[in-house]
Amino acid sequence: AKQAGLLYFGAATDTPFQRERAPYPQSYAQYDAILNSPTEFGQTTPTNGQKWLFTEPAPRLFNFTEGDYVADLAASTGKLLRCHALVWHSQLAPWVETTNWTAPALRDAITRHIRAVAGYYRGRCYAWDVVNEALDEDGSYRKSVFYNVLGEEYLRLAFSAAAEADPGARLYYNDYGIERPNSNKTAGAKRLVKMLQDAGLRVDGVGMQAHLHADNHPSEAELVATSEAYGQLVKEVAFTELDVRIKMPVDAAKLEMQKEGYQKVVAACVKVKACVGITVWDFYDPFSWVPDVFPGQGASLLWFEDFTKHPAYDGMVETFKKL
Ligand code: G3I
Repeated sequence: AKQAGLLYFGAATDTPFQRERAPYPQSYAQYDAILNSPTEFGQTTPTNGQKWLFTEPAPRLFNFTEGDYVADLAASTGKLLRCHALVWHSQLAPWVETTNWTAPALRDAITRHIRAVAGYYRGRCYAWDVVNEALDEDGSYRKSVFYNVLGEEYLRLAFSAAAEADPGARLYYNDYGIERPNSNKTAGAKRLVKMLQDAGLRVDGVGMQAHLHADNHPSEAELVATSEAYGQLVKEVAFTELDVRIKMPVDAAKLEMQKEGYQKVVAACVKVKACVGITVWDFYDPFSWVPDVFPGQGASLLWFEDFTKHPAYDGMVETFKKL
């Protein structure tokens, strides 16, 4: 990936505590060997530990244990750290959703949260996903506690507080389903970024999560066009949560389509100047979020349960070498 010009190719990971549901605790050593290897991944992201639920479980009670696990791992293994996510409607601490907010009180809570969390990690995050998934499928704003009380002001507040709390981190807007050039949601993402910029705020990047489907993924041309379009607005783009899910059971034809999905992302990122890197959303199938949320789908990552590699792994290596 580096030889092809990317800044990083990374894998997100979680803490052992959060992985307790995975069926193979005896294989953690094998998992860690891959994660810690200096030649596999040059970047990591905590899949959960920096979210509001963990970092501020009660008002003004901050806890960085879960986030530190991955931040420390990044430091000790020489990986870039992408930090995720300051303001998100999901995995919120329950108190944020149950409080009967006035606008000034919610403004304070958002600002305080971002100051504390981004301030605590100041200097350690290559980038922050400042706001995650603020859009609905049709490109309009998602109705969340933040939007319902503050309207789009919460987005401005978040980017402004993040810029103050960690001036060195690239500030990203991150979402899923914004990988195709002509969708309403992609239009929404561009509009959202412009709105922030018109307000004088710094937005450095757009993160395309890229939770893709083996049997229906965007073409390379589509991924290039979308990345270029974001690249006109902001300095950088990244594929931040890549996985390519399969409708079970796995067979050779589906693995081939999955490989093509991964290869297209690699090719697009290499071809678009603004694209800095790719992160897979964990790399070991038993630790993927997909089967929990979409029963009957899975095998979306790069290593199977038995630690053999998906064809997509060598497929991506080939694509990197070709470009
Ligand atoms: O916290 C409990 C823990 O106490 C328990 O030991 C463990 C085992 O049962 O479960 C833990 O909670 C789960 C947590 O992941 C950690 O495994 C939650 O039930 C589960 O809902 C949660 O799912 C996460 C999901 O976000 C929540 O929406 C996934 O791991 C995480 O990969 C996923 O990541 C999101 C990105 O942040 C944003 N984009 C979409 C992406 C996929 O949904």
